[in-house]
Amino acid sequence: MASTANLVTCLRMAIELAETSREMIGRSLVDGAFRHGDATLKEDRSFVTATDAAVEARLREIISRRFPDHGVIGEEHGEHGRGCSHVWVLDPIDGTAAFMAGIPVFGSLIACCVDGDPVIGVMDFPALGARFVGVAGEPTRLNGNVLKTRPCAELAGAILSASSPDFFPPGDIQAFERLRSRTAWRIYGAAALAYGRLAQGRIDLSIDSGLKIWDIAAFAPIVSGAGGRITDWAGAPLTIDSGPRVLAAGDPAMHAVALELLGREDAAKRRAGT
Ligand code: IPD
Ligand code: CA
Ligand code: CA
Repeated sequence: MASTANLVTCLRMAIELAETSREMIGRSLVDGAFRHGDATLKEDRSFVTATDAAVEARLREIISRRFPDHGVIGEEHGEHGRGCSHVWVLDPIDGTAAFMAGIPVFGSLIACCVDGDPVIGVMDFPALGARFVGVAGEPTRLNGNVLKTRPCAELAGAILSASSPDFFPPGDIQAFERLRSRTAWRIYGAAALAYGRLAQGRIDLSIDSGLKIWDIAAFAPIVSGAGGRITDWAGAPLTIDSGPRVLAAGDPAMHAVALELLGREDAAKRRAGT
């Protein structure tokens, strides 16, 4: 179903959602650490707290009041209207384990997809006071300042980030290792913040597997609008149906190199007919 909402009204909504989540998450923090002991481990082995559930419920209320004809996909409360022209994709707290541990990389991920493409991405990190905003066709901003990725032609000089190799399914470990072993340095545990820092020109490559659409949709406009390139491991642009694999590079030339390395074994298998 078509919606009358345009990019400007949707961006306004995305910022309102980010303000709301920042305020709610801020209330559960004491000295940068999560206050309540109410975390539970879900079936997919990721944590959820009462704050995750409450934030997402509130964001969904705001969206449905303003845009009843929009769909919503959220980590904690399911999905409706996936086929709508406009679909909001919500991760109320990305990095819940970090939130519980008081490591300040946790934040809310808010994306708006139009006809399946993520055209708005907002990542808000309440403990850092950092908000990354990406809009298709516009430069990415961090707290209002325009961001640009940095050039990095050689893997040997690259800083690579992965949220945690623990989340890579066994079948993806070899491909990851081919890339990892050629880079200069690795940072683990930065969760979504890694993709913001890549947009900012402070990380060269970010790679993950085992992720869901709410973990990654916001990355697409943020990385692209800063001059980087982001796709799945087959080189396809991210859409509402993407996951579980994502690869981002600040320098598009390095993205091509990384993609080739990730696919090398598959290509060898295809040649051998296995
Ligand atoms: C997790 C984070 C983490 C990634 C996990 C996700 P959550 O999200 O994105 O960086 O490695 O796969 O589940 O559960 O904290 O929203
Ligand atoms: Ca997440
Ligand atoms: Ca989450």
